Amino acid sequence: MSAAVQHAAARNEAMEPARVHITVYGCQMNQLDAELVGEVLRAGGAEVVGDAARANVLLFLTCSVRGHAEDRVFSNIGALGARKRRRPDLVIGLLGCMAQQYGDAVRRRAPLVDIVCAPGRLAELPDLIARARAGAGATALDPPRRQAGREGFAAADQALDRVEGRRLLGKPSARHAFVTVIRGCDNFCTYCVVPNVRGPERSRPPRSILEEVRGLVGQGVREVTFLGQAVNKYAAQEDGRRCDLADLVVRAAETPGLARLSFITSHPAAMTERLAAVFRDVPSVAAYLHMPAQSGSDAVLRRMNRGYTAAEYVERVAMVRGLRPDVAVESDFIVGFPGETAEDFEATMALVGQVRFAGAFVFKYSPRPGTLAAERFADDVPTAEKRRRHSELLTLVKRIAAEEKGRPARR
Ligand code: SAH
Ligand code: SF4
Ligand code: F3S
Repeated sequence: MSAAVQHAAARNEAMEPARVHITVYGCQMNQLDAELVGEVLRAGGAEVVGDAARANVLLFLTCSVRGHAEDRVFSNIGALGARKRRRPDLVIGLLGCMAQQYGDAVRRRAPLVDIVCAPGRLAELPDLIARARAGAGATALDPPRRQAGREGFAAADQALDRVEGRRLLGKPSARHAFVTVIRGCDNFCTYCVVPNVRGPERSRPPRSILEEVRGLVGQGVREVTFLGQAVNKYAAQEDGRRCDLADLVVRAAETPGLARLSFITSHPAAMTERLAAVFRDVPSVAAYLHMPAQSGSDAVLRRMNRGYTAAEYVERVAMVRGLRPDVAVESDFIVGFPGETAEDFEATMALVGQVRFAGAFVFKYSPRPGTLAAERFADDVPTAEKRRRHSELLTLVKRIAAEEKGRPARR
């Protein structure tokens, strides 16, 4: 412990204990991170409270994926001004992807923020909170991925593995749990901020994952969802042998007491026949595949750097359904990507009509600072047109999803 932190800790003893409230935005990774934050804070002697009004530490676990998601966070933090004036000892922490995206510069737009903590550094939060409560600003960021490479993330990852692997469920009645299998992303889809904020792809050691699954099942969990941005790119070496997601799923499924296993999100370019086979061969694997297509136009897919064509996407779905006909396939779509013409959009509508998804999220393109698309392509689809395409696609998605729900399983 540094002298500054020791000093802070001594001052904190005289203070009331930390009562922490966590607000979560964004994807399932943040939901899991919220659990882990709760875990490290409780272990550090803090109380995690459900009622924000009772808290003296407010943490925001944020998402940078679209401008709208960030705006909400800035406005929610901005609204705390009066409360902070009344209680200057109130600590406000910006955690998650926005923390890494903006770093210390976030304080220019959100001057109330005391703590800035990147997704990879959550294990350090007790220390950061102690420093902030002692009146010092506290920041922990991941290293820039280009300089650090994967090795630069190893120590922080091990700290996270320890927290995650030994976690005690906050809600002892929980039947379902998320488990990280692969961190970061190397795909660099041109619109996407995630590779910049979550670092390079790192697969967790199989042993650590399997131990965590056993630990969770021992606490009553019956369903596990493996998490990764492109979860099917999972690739680890163990005892000189390669372990991919198919191997990992087969091994995890052997855990006595585990009733259901799924994995999100699958990348179409990495969907192999080996992985598709787990849907047929492993009874506890859920009949559910979240595999975002993003667009049905090859020109748009190319500019997005997705690494597949619409026809290849359709083939991958057919491969999975060929092995297990009742798999519910879900997707994400972006409308209004730079240069998306009316014909491109029609190709997306056609893809949805052809694949007949069980569900899909539809997003309006939002240029993200630091991404290739934002730097190279003009955001040239007018807002009103984005809105129109969004609503037209969503209407089709919903109609088909409802029809699919009502009909007997595919054969
Ligand atoms: N790793 C996942 C997606 C993570 S982000 C995958 O590759 O599928 C979740 C979804 O947000 C994406 O699938 C995409 O549809 C959407 N998205 C990401 N960046 C976006 C942006 N700049 N504008 C609009 N939607 C975006
Ligand atoms: Fe973003 Fe693409 Fe990585 Fe998904 S696969 S997180 S969309 S860069
Ligand atoms: Fe958002 Fe970060 Fe997830 S940007 S979608 S919270 S990985």
